[in-house]
Order: sequence, then structure tokens, then C-alpha cells
Amino acid sequence: PTTRRFEFNIEWKNVRRLCHTKPLITVNGEYPGPTIAVHEGDNVEVKVTNSIAENTTIHWHGIRQLRTGWADGPGYVTQCPIRSGKSYVYKFTVTDQRGTLLWHAHLSWQRASVYGAFIIHPRMPYPFSTPIQAEVPIVFGEWWNNDVGAVENESIIYGSGPNVSDAYTINGLPGPLYPCSKKDTFIQTVEPGKTYLLRLINAALNDELFFGVANHTLTVVEIDALYTKPFTTTAIMVGPGQTTNVLLTADQHPDASGTFIMAATPYITTIFPSDNSSSVGFLRYKGRWNKKIALPANPYDLTAYNLPAMVDTAFATQFLNKLRSLDSAQYPCNVPQEMDKRAVITISLNLQDCPKNQICKGYQGKRFIASMNNQSFVRPSMSILESYYQNLTKGVYTSNFPEKPQHPYNYTGVDPFAGNLNPEFGTKLLVVPYGTRLEFVFQGTSILNVENHPIHVHGHNFFVVGSGFGNFDAKRDPANYNLVDPPERNTVAIPSGGWAAVRFKADNPGVWFVHCHLEVGVFLTPIQVHGHNFFVVGSGFGNFDAKHDPASDPVNYNLVG
Ligand code: C2O
Repeated sequence: PTTRRFEFNIEWKNVRRLCHTKPLITVNGEYPGPTIAVHEGDNVEVKVTNSIAENTTIHWHGIRQLRTGWADGPGYVTQCPIRSGKSYVYKFTVTDQRGTLLWHAHLSWQRASVYGAFIIHPRMPYPFSTPIQAEVPIVFGEWWNNDVGAVENESIIYGSGPNVSDAYTINGLPGPLYPCSKKDTFIQTVEPGKTYLLRLINAALNDELFFGVANHTLTVVEIDALYTKPFTTTAIMVGPGQTTNVLLTADQHPDASGTFIMAATPYITTIFPSDNSSSVGFLRYKGRWNKKIALPANPYDLTAYNLPAMVDTAFATQFLNKLRSLDSAQYPCNVPQEMDKRAVITISLNLQDCPKNQICKGYQGKRFIASMNNQSFVRPSMSILESYYQNLTKGVYTSNFPEKPQHPYNYTGVDPFAGNLNPEFGTKLLVVPYGTRLEFVFQGTSILNVENHPIHVHGHNFFVVGSGFGNFDAKRDPANYNLVDPPERNTVAIPSGGWAAVRFKADNPGVWFVHCHLEVGVFLTPIQVHGHNFFVVGSGFGNFDAKHDPASDPVNYNLVG
């Protein structure tokens, strides 16, 4: 196999948007960062050099990392961070995966500006026959006028913070609906009659997004680097960490401007006054654009341009329900028909009593703390994978993550603030034997449940076998699971006020992060410090080395000091 080598230099760079110039952490001075493009089966080596004063790590979101858990990237989970002035070479093989993923920094909020597309060209032709004129990566992100580190610190200290971003971006460009931003607009030129593959990636920190192109339909063919049964839609929904490939045919008779509006706008269930509307770009028909285009009058309502309203839960639900694995002879859907273990996990926002002599700005003088089953994650001082490998688990983590909700929860909104909402703090892991067929039911809860929670499982893909609103019912709901062609992905949106069930086989020994891919909103506390996290650990290394993969001896472990 070919080895493809990349060099990432993590460095500060001044970037100007919305008439604010500020230093951003970047890769090689680029914002967004460089695209990584490889072929299925390639070996990949990325040398990451840390040229900033703070620690860093990079995660290859959705790459399975079969037997290479140490290359996964989350700081203090699978590696110690890369210290200032040091470098680390991530080495892994892209085995049996193809499509669009993303990479991003995985320490504190660095992924606000340190992210990019990760594209795996397939070995076999696409499973759709339409000829593709060009492939276009479109990465959504967020821009803050303030220093992102300061915003993050404020929310850690006070349990809240003014951390709604100032703009959404398309390939780093906010577009003309934001102040002082007209020249920073993404433009894609197309040839009339041709079809394009858009690789849509949501690298935003805190919002699920709708995306659409005025007058055009989109044909969904892939999500999270897994082919789907194609279907046509006016708009797609993509959560943080998720990707969606769509086909777009330039089949319209352009009006006098020769230009159509494309836009990304958040999906939320309640509009806060601080929400920052929509990022707009242009689709221009080659040789036909020269006139001025009329911009949307109301950036909060792009329904005239093929986008749903920001609060259109019916659209969001219908869209998710249309997603299906391709399930062809070549790409069969291997959803586990049985399961060995079900864990029901609440995704909640607790209200912690304010610690003595501190200031809390959450609600009622308290602090918002994110949790799973009432456990709020405490970052260990040593990487969990290293401590597991060295058998030094004592003082690093415990393996007693609760498999059931530990706290009364209430998503019906009657009085979510009643009762004791203090979370427990700890570094707790769920440990499962190699080969366990796991089912996770993620249950949303009500406190400030204003958007879906995108839950990401590292090192695995999973099948979304069911979801619904209200409380998961273990007697009733599994009977309605889709065990034929459920969508396979690496990140699932837990409906606001509802639940989602996923199944997968824990067949990749290691320590794997399971967490909400919202970084922190006004209403969420940092997931890196206390938050929606727990881990799955595979069986002992001795076992897997001897029986499953003799080639991958632990001496290959190369954990950054
Ligand atoms: Cu995309 Cu743990 O992250």
C-alpha cells in the first residue's frame, strides 16, 4: 500500500473576518486547515508539530483506527498532548473506509479554528452512475470575534458564558448576511447541465445545521463515509462531527443574475436572541453571472431559498428518518440482530450548586454542568490508554460507569429544575469484553434542551436502529427498531426531548471516547473538563494481541510523553 505523508504545523496566524482581525490557531497558517485526501487502503502519516505555547492534539474523526488506538487523538484519552515545540507522527491505515470525514484538534476548544476535510477516495467506482464533473468539499464552521480561549475559560469558571459564535462560516467565509463580510463569501462556479458531488462537513462547535441551495435539489448518497440509499431533498441536516455527500445537478435556468444562494442555518428548537442567523454562499452558473443578486432580507428566515425554518423539527425528523444504509451486495448492512448489553445513558445538563467562594452564572446562582448518567467527566492527569496499557489505572480512572440513569430526569418540561441536580464528578469507564454487541440508548433530558445532542463514538461506526420523542420504553420501542437497513454512522443526533438507540460490535480493542460533539453553548459546560463523556475499553491487550492481531504488538505503542 501507498504511504501518504502530511505535515501539520500548528501555529498562530492573524485572520480577519467581520472587520475583526485576531490571532487564530491554524494548521500551516490556513483557515480552515488543509484537506487531507487519501485512497482507501493507504497508510497515512501526519507529522504534527506544535509551534504554539499551549498543548495540542489532532483527531481523525470517523477513522476506525483498527489496532491503532494511540493515533486517535483525543488529549488525555489516547495520548498525552503534544507539548509546545514537540511533534508527534500519527500513523494509521485507512482500512475498508471510503468517503468524507473531517479532522480537528481534540484539546480544549482548539477545533474552533483547527479543522479540515478528510477525504478517502474509494477503491471501487461510486455506487451511483451519474458522472461527476467535480467534487467540492464544503466545510461549515463558526467564527468568534473574541478570543475563543477566553470564551472557553469563562464558561469553565462560571458554568455559563457568552459563547454563541458571531457567525457561521462556509469554508471559513461568513458570507454577505453578516456585517462587514460581503467579500468573504464562498462561491462555487458550475457548468450548466453538469452534476457535482458536494462533500458537506459540519465542523461547527455548537450547532446542527440545515444546508440548501435555492431552486436546486440535493441527492443524499453518503453520510459519515458510508453509502446510503440515495434520496432527493430540498435541504439536508448535518450535526457537528457529521458529514453528508450530496449530488447537485446544475439544472436550472438561471435568472438574470446567473447566481443562486446556498446557505447554512442552525437547527434549534428555541431561537435565542443571540443566535447568529445564516451563512450564505453563491452557486454561479459559468459564463452567466454578472448581475447583482438580491440578498435575503431576513437572515433568520431562508425558507424562500429551500431552507427549512430554524425551528422546523418536523423537517429535521423526516430528514433523519429517510437515511438508510445502502445495503447492497458490495456494501451490506451488518447491523447486529442481537445485543449482549444495553446501556441507557442520559444526556443531561445538571445545575450544580455554586462551590463556596466562587461565582456561578448558570441559572439561579448555580452552574451548568453537562453529564451522562449524572457523571460529569474529570480529565485525568495521564492518558487513559497509556494507564490501561501500563496497568496503572489506579488514580487514573475507575471502570464503574453506570449502565442506567443515576438521576431522575425529566424531558417533559414540567419542572426540570425541581430536585437535586448536582452531578457526580469522576473518570469512569464502561469496560466491555472484545466482541460485545453493544446497544446504547441515549436519552435526552429537559434542562435547556434547545438543540439535538450529537453523540460521537470514537473507533467505531454504529447503526442508528431507532429514535423517538419522549422517554425510551424498553418494552415498546425495541420492537420498532430497524434491523434491516438502519443508517450507519459515527455521530448521531439525539433528538431534543427524545432518544436514539445505536448498535455496534465492540471489535476494536482500545480506549474510545464517547461524547457529545457540542463543544459548549451558553447552556453547556465544557465537555473536555466536565461533561458528556465516557469511554469504552476493549478487552485486555494480551488477549487481543495473541488471538486477534499478532502483528500489532504493544511495543508499537508510541505515546507522546
Ligand atoms: Cu470529532 Cu471526539 O471528536
